[in-house]
Amino acid sequence: MKLKTAKKTLNVIYNQDARNILDTIDSNTKVTTTITSPPYYDMKDYDSDNQVGYGQTYEEYLNDLKSIFAGVFEITEQNGTLWIIIDTFKRNNQVITLPFDLSNKLKEIGWLLQDVIIWKKDKTVPWSTNGFMQRKFEYILFFSKTANYKSNKDSVRVYDTSQLKKWWIKYPERYNPKGKALDEVWEFPIPTQGSWGEEYIRHFCPLPQNMVATMIQISTDENDNILDPFAGSGTVLSQSAYMKRNYIGFELNKNYISMFKEYLEKTFSKYRKEYELVIQNKDQGDFENRILNLRSLKFARVLIANIEKNIDFKNFKIFVVPKKASNIKHKLLKVEYQIIGQVDETIFTDEAKKIINKAPLSKFGIEPIFKFIEAKKFNHKNHFGYTKTNTYSYVKNSDLDSPKIRVISKICVDLNENDYL
Ligand SMILES: C[S@@+](CC[C@H](N)C(=O)[O-])C[C@H]1O[C@@H](n2cnc3c(N)ncnc32)[C@H](O)[C@@H]1O
Repeated sequence: MKLKTAKKTLNVIYNQDARNILDTIDSNTKVTTTITSPPYYDMKDYDSDNQVGYGQTYEEYLNDLKSIFAGVFEITEQNGTLWIIIDTFKRNNQVITLPFDLSNKLKEIGWLLQDVIIWKKDKTVPWSTNGFMQRKFEYILFFSKTANYKSNKDSVRVYDTSQLKKWWIKYPERYNPKGKALDEVWEFPIPTQGSWGEEYIRHFCPLPQNMVATMIQISTDENDNILDPFAGSGTVLSQSAYMKRNYIGFELNKNYISMFKEYLEKTFSKYRKEYELVIQNKDQGDFENRILNLRSLKFARVLIANIEKNIDFKNFKIFVVPKKASNIKHKLLKVEYQIIGQVDETIFTDEAKKIINKAPLSKFGIEPIFKFIEAKKFNHKNHFGYTKTNTYSYVKNSDLDSPKIRVISKICVDLNENDYL
């Protein structure tokens, strides 16, 4: 029986079996990502006929999932992806490796497994065990259709300094200016009954909203289409709507569908506003500026220390003037370093070339330009001075002519590691 319809296929939840995806969705409609948690074999009865998992053999169940995800593969864009949240379980005193059995089936279709992420759930019900240990995590399998897939990695980097170790202050060259990459362990507490108050919808296993938001942010842009073939309480669908993406859902249980619709109506304006605030957030740009400033100053300090190891110049200073983005591959910033004091230009330049082309300075992402200035011509009004050992907190009330000041700049940083973790 063909269920194909030319009707609206975006921003809908179908009360349909996920096995009918290809017959239901208009053949012109493509999805950018699919985010879903299928039933974990027969662990739960979701109270409807023809469920995948409940009442099936393990083989039937895996084969049904394989054919559903083959259909998903067909309607996925070439740069599209698939996220599956799934877990192991125990049968006859043995662990059944469902995430791995399923991922082997998906590889046969052509899905490329890109990452296996651990979702650390923080709290689970105390009686939920997998043998003698308490269950604390589930798996997230991340697949792509081709090797060239959409991945907005920079938009989910961690740049909130309260979540970073204080090392970014002393070692800014080791931190990506856009923030630290996400790691493979994601910590998101599971929504607990009552925790959403008025907004809560009753379902066995709603996914955490922020975890779904992270996946959406990584794999899609605004106006892209997102599918959840096992929609349940509809967390993926509602989050897609808040984030200006289109959703398509499948769910057998009619009650969940009406709860989802009610929930979306109640929560839409609140979470749409929250999303608008998040995308306007300037904090990532602030972090980037801080890291680049710290790198520019530290570059001068490390250069001084290395030059002085080999050549006996008299207490020269370096004035640091950041310019603009560099056009050289792997370099982020062009910085002018004005050398002030009695130095031989040729000897300095030859020595500096050797130093900047090897680690650590070659790793700073800085394209340096050297200029040589006579001390008496240098005017350092409104500048900040740093020493040979510290370029992350300027020396207060100091005379910039003092021999202890070696790096001078308009850049002002005043960071104390003890203020951070
Ligand atoms: C693990 S739950 C999904 C939970 C969901 N991710 C959430 O945030 O609430 C699996 C869902 O798949 C639904 N389901 C089971 N078999 C199905 C089928 N053949 N087609 C569509 N939905 C199905 C169940 O009713 C259940 O709601």
